Amino acid sequence: MAKQEDQFKKVISHAKEYGYIFGSSEIYDGLSAVYDYGQNGVELKKNIREYWWKSMVQMHQNIVGLDAAILMHPATWKASGHVDAFSDPLIDNKDSKKRYRADVLVEDYREKINQKIEKDITKAKKRFGDAFNENEFRSTNPNVLRRQKEIDKITLELTRVQEENDLAGFKQLIEDLGIVCPISGSKNWTDVRQFNLMFGTKLGASAETATDLYLRPETAQGIFVNFLNVQKTGRMKIPFGIAQTGKAFRNEIVARQFIFRMREFEQMEMQFFVRPGEEMKWYDYWKETRLKWHKSLGLGEDNYRFHDHEKLAHYANAATDIEFNFPFGFKELEGIHSRTDFDLKAHEEHSGKKLQFFDPELNENYVPYVVETSIGLDRMFLAVLSKSLQDEELENGTSRVVLKLPAILAPVKVAIFPLVKKDGLPEIARNIVDDLKFDFNVMYDEKDAVGKRYRRQDAAGTPFCITVDHDTIETQTVTIRYRDSMMQERISIKDIKGIIEQQVSFKNWMFS
Ligand code: GAP
Repeated sequence: MAKQEDQFKKVISHAKEYGYIFGSSEIYDGLSAVYDYGQNGVELKKNIREYWWKSMVQMHQNIVGLDAAILMHPATWKASGHVDAFSDPLIDNKDSKKRYRADVLVEDYREKINQKIEKDITKAKKRFGDAFNENEFRSTNPNVLRRQKEIDKITLELTRVQEENDLAGFKQLIEDLGIVCPISGSKNWTDVRQFNLMFGTKLGASAETATDLYLRPETAQGIFVNFLNVQKTGRMKIPFGIAQTGKAFRNEIVARQFIFRMREFEQMEMQFFVRPGEEMKWYDYWKETRLKWHKSLGLGEDNYRFHDHEKLAHYANAATDIEFNFPFGFKELEGIHSRTDFDLKAHEEHSGKKLQFFDPELNENYVPYVVETSIGLDRMFLAVLSKSLQDEELENGTSRVVLKLPAILAPVKVAIFPLVKKDGLPEIARNIVDDLKFDFNVMYDEKDAVGKRYRRQDAAGTPFCITVDHDTIETQTVTIRYRDSMMQERISIKDIKGIIEQQVSFKNWMFS
């Protein structure tokens, strides 16, 4: 655990040192759970967004994009259920005066029991070697069985109090489990209360005439209210999807863990409209497709798992999270939800406008069902950054800090160095920059010894470095050095573009 915390601290300080992420308005001591992306961060974020957009929109003939406004008619949020039900249960510790999400307290407690099971399994694996059968161990070992029973009991009660909105029962559960405040160590809790997460704002010049609005808490509703606009003008036939990326805002009660849970964040969402009754087929399709997308980035197949929801949101008939192994354990990275016809029907009722599709094959009108994929861009950023940052021991006994970002996502693709600042080498290096800059983000660096420049680019995440030396003048060749293997090879200047193109090709990353 301590090792994980150390790694997380390293990620946070590295993100700042290398211009990835800064605290918001830092000169005024910052704003809690709000962050700014620096010169490298903005590029990495843009590249992740583009990798998602290409895979969703460009790769699917039946998915198109949208960019809806952040501010929407307030009736939107009444129809969607956010005014009445978009809240988290909160509880305060009277001694530390710290505020917690009641569900997270219980989930963390349950996860600790799960960690004990995992520890027993790891130990047994070591003891029994190849002969170890995990399924058998899970179903026969008395310790594991007892703990699993405890987990199941907690899950059952947690689901019940959430579904029934039984706030007294919630507090009772926390007390029965003996959960203590991590700061004060005490069990001196307040009652559990519901807290709406939407940020309110006003539209209009004077206080008397102003209309109350909300900053959107999800981008999805912009898609639903435009369903008919896009379907008609794009002549879309079911099944089809609408994809959107953009900012969302939530007044999170407990916003910790860096950019994992923010108050202003960006979502990448896609609503896939399908025939009623076919939603489970598409739900399975999108589960598999999205997992494949994640795995294509090479951050480690074992770092992903599905977590099916026991408690379904008010709009869903099936839901799962793709969880990622963050430095603080497995947590939700993306949600895939079968949202039924809840949203379109609710908007029909509240707006009085029909939001239906005439299906020529069935010769009937219906309100389509929706399967949604929804991922936080900032959370994806954290997943990529935290798995890419590595301390590497080298064969010669030294070590290096290297940010092994997937090359397709790296902010700067290639750095160009003249070996020395004279003899015409800077001019050749600058010519190479001028040639490549039309296709890639390129950086020129002539300061310090070449070894030091390599290390600087390793830490910043640049996958390729090109060094121009005295032989370049005669042979028109340069040295290319690969960040991950540190291998160096001599290549012709005219081949640089082709080599890098191949290494950062969307097709190669996504489909090989
Ligand atoms: N439209 C469905 C929806 O918004 P959600 O599970 O509440 O579903 C989807 O959010 C994704 O948005 C999450 O999986 C997560 O990646 C991201 N997300 C949600 N709240 C966030 C927050 N406070 N900070 C950063 N990302 C967040």
